[in-house]
Amino acid sequence: MLNRFRVLPLLLLESSISEVGYIVSNHLSRMSPSNLVSLEMTNLLQNLISSTALLIQHKYGGSLLIFLTIQPILLMVCKLSVGQEVPISDMDMPFTCNWYTANKSMDNCAFCNADGDFLFVPQKGRLWLTTECGRLQICPGEVAVVPQGFRFTVSLPDGPSRGYVAEIFGAHFHLPDLGPIGANGLAAARDFLAPIAWFEEATRPNYLIIQKYGGELFTAKQDFSPFNVVAWHGNYVPYKYDLNKFCPYNTVLVDHGDPSINTVLTAPTEKPGVALLDFVIFPPRWLVAEHTFRPPYYHRNCMSEFMGLIYGNYEAKADGFLPGGASLHSCMTPHGPDTKTYEATIARQENAGPYKITETMAFMFESYLIPRVCHWALESPFLDRDYYQCWIGLQSHFRKQDCSKDFSAEAVE
Ligand SMILES: [Fe+2]
Repeated sequence: MLNRFRVLPLLLLESSISEVGYIVSNHLSRMSPSNLVSLEMTNLLQNLISSTALLIQHKYGGSLLIFLTIQPILLMVCKLSVGQEVPISDMDMPFTCNWYTANKSMDNCAFCNADGDFLFVPQKGRLWLTTECGRLQICPGEVAVVPQGFRFTVSLPDGPSRGYVAEIFGAHFHLPDLGPIGANGLAAARDFLAPIAWFEEATRPNYLIIQKYGGELFTAKQDFSPFNVVAWHGNYVPYKYDLNKFCPYNTVLVDHGDPSINTVLTAPTEKPGVALLDFVIFPPRWLVAEHTFRPPYYHRNCMSEFMGLIYGNYEAKADGFLPGGASLHSCMTPHGPDTKTYEATIARQENAGPYKITETMAFMFESYLIPRVCHWALESPFLDRDYYQCWIGLQSHFRKQDCSKDFSAEAVE
């Protein structure tokens, strides 16, 4: 129970790809086969989450099994239950937020998530996602969703790669309601791209299927490629989206919009106004507000905010928040710009004209559920235990004598 809250907020700094290997447990072969196929069970997920180091190179069948490391770097797991520790394999995990690091393409194997949808957010290096519906290439600045149940492989055309993955259970992503914005704005449906059919005919002896089911991993062998779909139709498909096509909305006179105005995709709950998971971005845009402290103001949020940086600098953190890193501000944890950003903004006062934030792409996975941080993240050498110091030295610049307003005369009705 204590682990759930003790380190928040936290900041994880950029990690080194070069020291990250592929992680698949040698426990894959320990269960007796089923009567149909060689179905083997593993506690891989639990083993990896309890690992204290990122570099684990287990072997499978005498050779290193290549696998986009989705599970091994599980960062945090959110549970509906707030009681005793619940095994991670339980299916009451509405979402997870993860890092992946990868240094080798998957070969002669495919992965399938029977539990939920994946949202890939590459930060370094392109990914080729080969799915049963076809192939998608995504680069940093683009995202892709692989829905629950699709088999896919990942290739790395640029070599070592890194990024983020969100996983949601029991819901699917879709575009947010636009409300008063009306018919057009934010992410447009026309910009989401689905693959065209792509297939291979060659026999593939010992082709390995790794299936995540109920939070555990199972494997099966077959002698053909799962990518044998020559045509498809329907609307339950993998898709990609270029974040640079997002049409941001912002204040044009005074004050702030809620960050949710930048929602690209949302996985809703039955409760209006709160999401199981929102995917929100902070793209290049003009800042023009007058009489307003323009960076994100100091606040507490009913949602928990997992924030990552794909490239560039984030406007509210002058130092320390690097591409590939992430911060977590849990529900009702106060946060805001660091001291340096705050002082620089105050110094500009009303002299700041219209200003364009350029060459940056930050994002948030935001949920109304309280996240739990896994052991790996808590014990990671990349954990920034001094994150709180970015707010050291904050000083009030409020001077009552500068105010024309007579506070003593204000009445609340
Ligand atoms: Fe926030």
